[in-house]
Amino acid sequence: MNKNTKLEVRNITKVFGKNPQKIISLLNEGLSKSEIFEKTKQTVGLNNVSFKVYDGEIFVIMGLSGSGKSTLLRCLNRLIEPTAGDILIDGQNITQISSEELRDTRRTKLGMVFQNFALLPHRTVLDNVAYGLEIQGIPKEDRYSKALAAIETVGLKGYENSKITQLSGGMKQRVGLARALANDPDILLMDEAFSALDPLIRSDMQNELLAIEDRMQKTIIFVSHDLDEALKLGDRIALMKDGKVVQIGTPDEILTEPANSYVSRFVAGVDRSKILTAESVMRRPEPFVSVNSGLRVAIKLMKAHGISSIYVVEGKNRRLKGILMIGEALKALKAGKSLEEAMLKEPPQVPPDLPLSDIIPLIAESQYPLAVVNDSGKLLGIMVRGTVLGALAMSGQNGHAAVFEGKDPEEKTSEEKNLEERNFAGENFEETPPEKTGPIANANSEGEVGRDVGFPSESPGIPDVSGGIINDGIDSGSVPAEATARAPFRSDSGPGSEVKIC
Ligand SMILES: Nc1ncnc2c1ncn2[C@@H]1O[C@H](COP(=O)(O)OP(=O)(O)OP(=O)(O)O)[C@@H](O)[C@H]1O
Ligand SMILES: [Mg+2]
Repeated sequence: MNKNTKLEVRNITKVFGKNPQKIISLLNEGLSKSEIFEKTKQTVGLNNVSFKVYDGEIFVIMGLSGSGKSTLLRCLNRLIEPTAGDILIDGQNITQISSEELRDTRRTKLGMVFQNFALLPHRTVLDNVAYGLEIQGIPKEDRYSKALAAIETVGLKGYENSKITQLSGGMKQRVGLARALANDPDILLMDEAFSALDPLIRSDMQNELLAIEDRMQKTIIFVSHDLDEALKLGDRIALMKDGKVVQIGTPDEILTEPANSYVSRFVAGVDRSKILTAESVMRRPEPFVSVNSGLRVAIKLMKAHGISSIYVVEGKNRRLKGILMIGEALKALKAGKSLEEAMLKEPPQVPPDLPLSDIIPLIAESQYPLAVVNDSGKLLGIMVRGTVLGALAMSGQNGHAAVFEGKDPEEKTSEEKNLEERNFAGENFEETPPEKTGPIANANSEGEVGRDVGFPSESPGIPDVSGGIINDGIDSGSVPAEATARAPFRSDSGPGSEVKIC
């Protein structure tokens, strides 16, 4: 998803009643929806709603019954005329265009899927899907080929000639979706489209929609009163109450940074482990070492960062090659082996969208941090037990401080960038005279590393420049030796350490 704005809603208000303009001034005076209804018997459907929807995202409008979801969705294609405010689609203000231009915009840019399917019962699937194209006067051959493609997209190939009455609820909704897709609109508006379906079919349809979204990159505005559905589908969610937007955010933000107590109550009881994903709680994969940099660089980095294992990557694309443990690195250095020989190849790894519920058993069993790796093998982040437990344990308001600091996991300090650039530029500490590589190299040259080869079991660590200790980020001067022998987990799994994306 890119961040180009596809649709923008600016200060939309909708009042149902005889004198809506008068109600606007009451809203401006700060009267609530219920006060206005009591006083005037007019209903505030929407109260000064503003947001942007980005190209290619699924934007979910969520809220309890009567909160204004359908009113808002219908304002977007002007099935309901807003009382005040602007709606921009691709920068064009559709509240100010002629009815002819509006028809054109609806035809080319907007498709709508309804909860009750709104199909023609005695027509075939094919004719229902082609219906929108038919009323636009598109020739039969053309509309049928587009309709057939849409039918295939929603998984109904083979049912073209079935009658609507012969289909199950889930199949009918697939037809509704195909009909909206046949027109190839930029934006799909979906109002409680899956709410009438039973839970298993509903879940299938949600998965289907996500798969379609993956393939077609439509912008989808999806209304739901169901929090689980919103959290599953939404790239971002707008939570509504009494015609107002209470909070807009990603599912993670809604869960971990609720804007107020209403949102907190709304999301209380959600199983975070099913919502939070590897990507949302992973740490930046720092430090890592290029496979070409050699053992000394790897050891130096582990030492500098106070960690006992380091990920090994290759190339600018950070392809994951393995994980290197400090003990193995020191042994290999002594034996004259290479970094590649010393590392563990194919370390435990998970895809970025894997939910924590699936990660917990993996991380419980794994001796090493889990690498978060995308389809092309790029190392995106790392997860340790502390990261996962921290994410699950945090509650509401304070939780976001631990996990979501709004930092891009790719964001690096200038020092780290410099180090990384030097690694990839092939600046290789193995070519550096030992005396310039600090105490480890010195120790090696003096035959002292042998003492540390057994780290962590034989020794609490290896001396660093300042006389500290390389272990899991704990100064062994202040903790018992057994606590320092927990390698190979990283610093943030250690007692007293913070769980952070940094
Ligand atoms: N045509 C109408 N005339 C008068 N009031 C209306 C009309 N349509 C909606 N409303 C009122 O506007 C408010 C928002 O209604 P809306 O249908 O948008 O809610 P919703 O969030 O979609 O609810 P639901 O989950 O039940 O579909 C409600 O108070 C409703 O009574
Ligand atoms: Mg509704």
